[in-house]
Amino acid sequence: MAVCQNSIFHIFFLFSSLLFFSYLNKAYGTEGTFASNIPHTYHHAIEIQSLLPTTTCSEFSSRHRGKKGAVLPMFNKNGPCSPLSNKDNIQKTINHTQILIQDQSRVHSIHSRISKKGVSITPEEVRLPANSGSSLGTGNFFVTVGFGTPKKDLPVIFDTGSDLTWIQCQPCVGGCYPQRDPIFDPIKSSSYSNISCSSIDCSQLRSGTGGSPSCSSSTCVYSIQYGDQSYSIGFFGQETLTLSPTDAFPKFKFGCGQNNDGLFGKVAGLLGLGRDKISIVSQTALKYKKLFSYCIPAHSSGFLALGAPPSTAAKFTPLLADSRGPSFYFLNLQGISVGGKNLAISPSAFSVGGTIIDSGTVVTRLPPSAYSAVRTAFRQAMTTYPSAPALSILDTCYDLSGFKTVSIPKILLHFAGGTDLDIPPTGLLFAQSTSQACLPFAGNSDAGDVAIIGNKQQQTVEIIFDVAGGKLGFGPGGCS
Ligand SMILES: *[C@@H]1O[C@H](CO)[C@@H](O)[C@H](O)[C@H]1NC(C)=O
Ligand SMILES: *[C@@H]1O[C@H](CO)[C@@H](O)[C@H](O)[C@H]1NC(C)=O
Repeated sequence: MAVCQNSIFHIFFLFSSLLFFSYLNKAYGTEGTFASNIPHTYHHAIEIQSLLPTTTCSEFSSRHRGKKGAVLPMFNKNGPCSPLSNKDNIQKTINHTQILIQDQSRVHSIHSRISKKGVSITPEEVRLPANSGSSLGTGNFFVTVGFGTPKKDLPVIFDTGSDLTWIQCQPCVGGCYPQRDPIFDPIKSSSYSNISCSSIDCSQLRSGTGGSPSCSSSTCVYSIQYGDQSYSIGFFGQETLTLSPTDAFPKFKFGCGQNNDGLFGKVAGLLGLGRDKISIVSQTALKYKKLFSYCIPAHSSGFLALGAPPSTAAKFTPLLADSRGPSFYFLNLQGISVGGKNLAISPSAFSVGGTIIDSGTVVTRLPPSAYSAVRTAFRQAMTTYPSAPALSILDTCYDLSGFKTVSIPKILLHFAGGTDLDIPPTGLLFAQSTSQACLPFAGNSDAGDVAIIGNKQQQTVEIIFDVAGGKLGFGPGGCS
């Protein structure tokens, strides 16, 4: 048996080494480790049950605890650890079709914000509000931060795709959607003040996704609309933002929204982690040096860390800026492997539209030719399993109800600098139920649209944004 296996490996290696020499060299270093690791290196053995939403919460724990900077626990709004979710009803409250429809709306608005076409606008794009931000989607995750004096702790959606931070404020003259906590009242805070129309801060709203400024009795008014018709309008003010017992930021600029509606659920507002001027990343730059990391949980809780030293095991790739979308974090995606095989995708397929990493998009979107290559390779590796009907935009689905464990080909995204994102098992299947588990990738309809690394593929990995250092890192095993 051992002899037989060895010779098979030997023959296989002779062929594959010619074809994939450079890739293997990069990924595994030596021939020896390659040959001895075949079964484990190219596939994940996944227990079917681990694909479904869990109903039990395991405690927040992070290796960042006790180090410097602010570390905020992060939860999925509908997850088992969320103080906002109905724990007895988790399976029922998650409608996967709904998630995918709203995800497509977010992707559509990102594509129209980062238009390769520049000035030309298609009729479809005209329908979106002029200052549209991202659609929020439903795969949203939140952290809790403190506003005002005395401090009020409020849950806010965290979003790397927009810059302005805002919360609902009293008086809700134009209406507020229902939230779990009492609505923030700036009059009851001794540290709140309005920002005047003539200030430079007001004019900075104009850039990126800050929302367009206007004036009311010489007070700066912001207005931000999201692609899915969600919006927030109110006074642009400044207030003390507290992120940890030691880290408070006086005069933090934010939107105090008196007219809000949309898909925000029970959270109080949104935390904008984009890379443009008024984002929290820019406003806390003196203290945190534009260094932050997060881990989006697959099952229980994750974290958002600002200014804390990242995992030492992380591998980095250059973080790029692009004037087509100043709020977004661009990366240089260069290739993809499925089941150990580096796919034949033209490098220009990736360079035409570019690639961003986004916390709010659920399913990774690839250029059409790249998605097609991934799908073909994935299907070839999954022929053992009966197929299932498509789920909304996901066209590669399997009925795994007859299995306890399944063997799924690994998918690696190859970035510039020789850095790979080895997608964790939870990012390889999106399961409505065990009888309909789908490959959670989709193709863009236009080859010129930006590719988006979605949060499904980021789950459990520590994603490190070293904006000042111009690099983005992937640290394994950040959370569960
Ligand atoms: C989920 O949402 C879709 C689209 O809105 C709807 O057609 C479907 O009936 C919903 N499914 C459930 C189980 O509520
Ligand atoms: C902010 O400005 C508005 C409009 O001028 C005003 O109604 C409100 O009282 C001001 N708030 C504070 C705290 O000054």
